[in-house]
Amino acid sequence: MTKAAGKPQSRYVCQSCGESFLRWEGQCRACSAWNSLVETLVREPRRAAASSAPAGGFAQSTALGSVAEPDVPRRAIGIGELDRVLGGGLVEGSVVLVGGEPGIGKSTLLLQAAAGIAASGATVLYATGEESAAQVRLRAARLGLLDGAARDGIRVVAEAEIGRIAEIARDERPALVVVDSIQTATIGELEGPAGSVGQVRESALRLMELAKGEGIAVVLVGHVTKDGSLAGPKTLEHLVDAVLALEGERYASLRLVRASKNRFGSTEEVGVFEMGEAGMAEVTDPARAFLAEHDEPAPGSVVAPTLEGSRPILVEVQALVAPGLVGSPRRTASGVDPNRVALLIAVLGRRAGIGLASHDVYVNLAGGLSVGEPGLDLPIALALASSLRDRPIRDRTVAIGEVGLLGELRPVAGLERRLREAARLGFRRAVVPRAAHGGSLPEVAGMEIVAVPSLREAISETLGGVAERVASAPARC
Ligand code: TYD
Ligand code: MG
Repeated sequence: MTKAAGKPQSRYVCQSCGESFLRWEGQCRACSAWNSLVETLVREPRRAAASSAPAGGFAQSTALGSVAEPDVPRRAIGIGELDRVLGGGLVEGSVVLVGGEPGIGKSTLLLQAAAGIAASGATVLYATGEESAAQVRLRAARLGLLDGAARDGIRVVAEAEIGRIAEIARDERPALVVVDSIQTATIGELEGPAGSVGQVRESALRLMELAKGEGIAVVLVGHVTKDGSLAGPKTLEHLVDAVLALEGERYASLRLVRASKNRFGSTEEVGVFEMGEAGMAEVTDPARAFLAEHDEPAPGSVVAPTLEGSRPILVEVQALVAPGLVGSPRRTASGVDPNRVALLIAVLGRRAGIGLASHDVYVNLAGGLSVGEPGLDLPIALALASSLRDRPIRDRTVAIGEVGLLGELRPVAGLERRLREAARLGFRRAVVPRAAHGGSLPEVAGMEIVAVPSLREAISETLGGVAERVASAPARC
């Protein structure tokens, strides 16, 4: 680091009122907020040197039409699923935060990404504060990377001090610096422990300076706490150019990479991987990856054609309903919002005659996927009803739709895309909400589309009166 513009000083700054103090205190003496002091480096005036203001002058306004188009040089990593989530590769000089629970595969994926960059002829600096260089080598050997371009193209340093890492980067000029992880990173001038809000934020700021100043892409690894937030400051998410989340269940093999923010691409895309013996392998047909295999239809199982960004992915919702203690039934949900499940249980009871008040309820998505979209309401409700009646829903049927408090069904976006994918994977019947205001339903070859207005009718279409229905019913739209 250059030490030109006055030596930066460590101060504890209140995040509520901005007052600064020399020592950490539990309560801000100016505004009385608790736990609001964060250690910060205070530099004298030249702080914003890396901003967009022209050197020595002030920013000028420009007519919108005359603003030059942004020039975003990208470097493909060579791992298709990752490049796609990034919007076509890693942007030079960008800072990407990769978050995920410990053990989910962040270091593995990033070492593979580093090898991809090395294979394109560039070099990568892999700075690890979590492991020793020898451990990184061991992982590289397991991933079979020691014979390829990664052998010389990836340089490893077991270092957590960001000033030192930046110095090496300025010296070696790699195309990419990986910092694993931001929670172990420290800045020499700060006295707080690694992982404290001040250390994490100043480390990120300094790495941003490196990225923007030198045109080096920086990837930060961040551990996610149990409640799902990126540990350390949320402010990190605002600083960086892109935030990728690596999701999945630690003990299941599928992993999803999702962009929750991307200044250089869409946040619509997801990448699907499978963690195997030799690292993360791309999943070529993600639409079916999350479907569990059954020989026969099982009670409590409903397949939902969900949309992850622009990509249709079929997931199996599994529900198990069992008599429980009256007054304190258990409700357990994984991969779906437990509040949503509670609401659906209430709607089922009041609007569809499916009483679960004295039953224990377990809801799960196969494959460890998490889905937040409300379209999953109908499949969850049908899975619960199917489990309670101990009767499978009709074979090769999918269901999608949001459920309202009155038991009415609301349409979902992208229905045609979802149903085409379901048809491609062998599903023949779809129970969907009746289109609003008499709008038309898509036509999908080989798929019978059953449009119903309410949860009650959806249940009778999938579980009730199956025997009366003629096997070869004509397609209804
Ligand atoms: P890791 O990348 O170290 O996770 P993180 O950096 O997110 O903490 O991956 C940890 C797990 O992945 C570990 O349990 C071992 C497993 N793994 C594989 O299954 N296959 C592999 O090829 C590798 C390298 C790891
Ligand atoms: Mg790791």
